[in-house]
Amino acid sequence: MKTVTVNASVTYDVLIENGCLKQCGTFAGKVFDSSSTAAIITDDTVAHLYLDTVISSLQSAGFSVCSFIFPHGEDSKSSSVLMEVYHFLAENNITRTDFIVALGGGVVGDLAGFAAATYLRGIRFMQIPTTFLAAIDSSVGGKTAINIDAGKNLVGAFHQPSLVVCDPTVFRTLSCQIFADGCAEMIKYAMIWSEDFLQLLEQCKLQNQIEDIIAYCVDIKRQVVEQDENDCGIRMILNYGHTLGHAIEKVTEHTVTHGQGVAMGMMLITRLGIRMGLCDSSLLRRLSSILQKYHLPTVYDGSLAELAQVCLLDKKRAGKQIRLIFVSTPGQAQIVPVDTDILTTMLKGELPC
Ligand code: GLY
Repeated sequence: MKTVTVNASVTYDVLIENGCLKQCGTFAGKVFDSSSTAAIITDDTVAHLYLDTVISSLQSAGFSVCSFIFPHGEDSKSSSVLMEVYHFLAENNITRTDFIVALGGGVVGDLAGFAAATYLRGIRFMQIPTTFLAAIDSSVGGKTAINIDAGKNLVGAFHQPSLVVCDPTVFRTLSCQIFADGCAEMIKYAMIWSEDFLQLLEQCKLQNQIEDIIAYCVDIKRQVVEQDENDCGIRMILNYGHTLGHAIEKVTEHTVTHGQGVAMGMMLITRLGIRMGLCDSSLLRRLSSILQKYHLPTVYDGSLAELAQVCLLDKKRAGKQIRLIFVSTPGQAQIVPVDTDILTTMLKGELPC
């Protein structure tokens, strides 16, 4: 078993092992009081596949268990579903000595995590990520949120889990596209943090080393989050490729997935960086080739001017500036404030290929 211990405002373990889902109750028993109730929150897709295993493991470890299942998909990350979760917790007499289990991908983790952050002014929770993306990104680091009409993740809280249990064998039920979404975040980690990790990803057969690679990504996230839990400084480098990626997702009305958007966003920001003298041109060829290896797109063929408009609406913009993340060479990420009119001019202009 691989264990990564995160020392944030809460200290917790991320446990990674093929086949460990059926032991999640045993692991929870080391962190939560076995006289407590585990309130599982999951979606209908994941419930069908893994809920029985998780319930029986938690019950074998002595926990009382109740579960709430909501329809899968981003639309469920809403105030109305959140309210249903609160009612479910209240009806099942969940108190501060009990805990929530977020069983699923990013939507489940964000929604259940935000319920845990706010119900009774905060109760403990554990994450059981069932997508590659959730395993290496959203289940670790304590960002929780729901969406409102004005935008995604606009209402949220930092609330660290007390335990993360990751069984990579559950990724076998993911579509190629959803698995590739996680690969975009994996490549992001290598780009911002480590030439050695990038070389490993360029050479390896991912399925043969999945536990090591998840542990590697989680350990990078651990190092970043331990320095900047509240996302005021270095944590922003985790947004590499994301500003333009989010804009692409929005412009394409989410027909481009998050991972595909991040992949195109990393390519575009590198092209901008070359134009600004911040990135080595050889990086673009390397990035393009690793994205292709992991079945991710390298080109956004829509209007860059339109992307510029969407970036101007980015809520993370500070006045007339937007903070963009550039990687000059693998492992060397920098946060660069760029005037929005300069960004617009450059996106409207011809970018080097
Ligand atoms: N997903 C980026 C972060 O946790 O900061």
